[in-house]
Amino acid sequence: MAEDKHIEITEKCLDESIDAFFKSAPPLQDLDNITKKLENFVAQHSVHSESQNTKKVVCVTSGGTTVPLERRCVRYIDNFSSGHRGASSTEYFLKAGYMVIFLHRRGTAQPFCRFLPENPILECFEPSDDSGIQVCSPYAEAVKSAIQEHKSAVNSGYFLQLDFTTLFEYLQILQVITLAINRLGAYGMFYLAAAVSDFYVPWDSMTEHKIQSGPGGLAMQLAPVPKMLTLLRKRWAPVAFCVSFKLETDIDILLKKAESARRKYGVHAVVANELSTRKEKVIVVTDQSQTVIEKKGVGMDVEEPLIDFLIKEHAAYTFHQSHFVAKTSEL
Ligand code: PMT
Repeated sequence: MAEDKHIEITEKCLDESIDAFFKSAPPLQDLDNITKKLENFVAQHSVHSESQNTKKVVCVTSGGTTVPLERRCVRYIDNFSSGHRGASSTEYFLKAGYMVIFLHRRGTAQPFCRFLPENPILECFEPSDDSGIQVCSPYAEAVKSAIQEHKSAVNSGYFLQLDFTTLFEYLQILQVITLAINRLGAYGMFYLAAAVSDFYVPWDSMTEHKIQSGPGGLAMQLAPVPKMLTLLRKRWAPVAFCVSFKLETDIDILLKKAESARRKYGVHAVVANELSTRKEKVIVVTDQSQTVIEKKGVGMDVEEPLIDFLIKEHAAYTFHQSHFVAKTSEL
């Protein structure tokens, strides 16, 4: 009883801090356009459902959010995330037949372009003799396959790209996506690989203009970012399959933190990764098991077996959900 009361109070505080976050956030530019794109995308899903070929839809979040320090932002706090995990995972989800909403940080890694140099326009192309442009020979195959695969994913209607820079944009767009995915029930999935800032400067306490330099140094108070994961699981899309991530630099606390996140937020799986080995190995924590997943060899991606594993978990979940719903509706 006392525990129930405690949970109720904690949830109320969380609701209030999430409300305050959204109320004070600067309005999302392009909201109408984003909503329209999502509606069209989800409508595409309904076409497949009617043809007995129900597609699954995953929202992959990727890259790190920035925390602006001024409203007319000159400086911001950032994090290390390259977006590689999200970009490569998107490729494997698409290959497996999923429809993918790729919510990524502007300027981070893009699906199908991972094997191109950092500055592809300047490094992959050169002027040709007929005063046009041609692909430099070592990159011919990589450029061709990046363009082909990207175009085919976009033209198929199975791939929607949305982008963010700030924490405010990320959380607002995620909310809109969540409401769209909720309509798909258990066929919807979240794969939350973005590195989301834990602390921020609330918009209403943020200075308008550039912070001036001064002799005394700078002290700022950052507020904790409310954990949207709770709301996503409980209200925004309670039936969707939800995979969150846990990153640590200390391997000794990683699994404990991942297991505690799984319980606290009620997600279906937590992908635990350690910063320095994240490209080689991850551990997927579910209520049944802790499964170590490693890349299969040199030049391979750990995301290939990871997505394979998660797709199987999602399939078991959708089966269980449809079976459970069918059984309860018979009662
Ligand atoms: O991009 P790469 O360089 O390839 O690196 C990939 C990665 C290491 C960033 C990725 O594998 C990863 O671990 N991403 C999550 C890192 C992280 O921010 O962990 P966290 O402990 O801060 O957050 C845990 C989970 O809660 C995340 O799934 C996050 O989406 C979610 N969250 C976090 C904060 C918040 N306010 N609300 C949330 O819902």
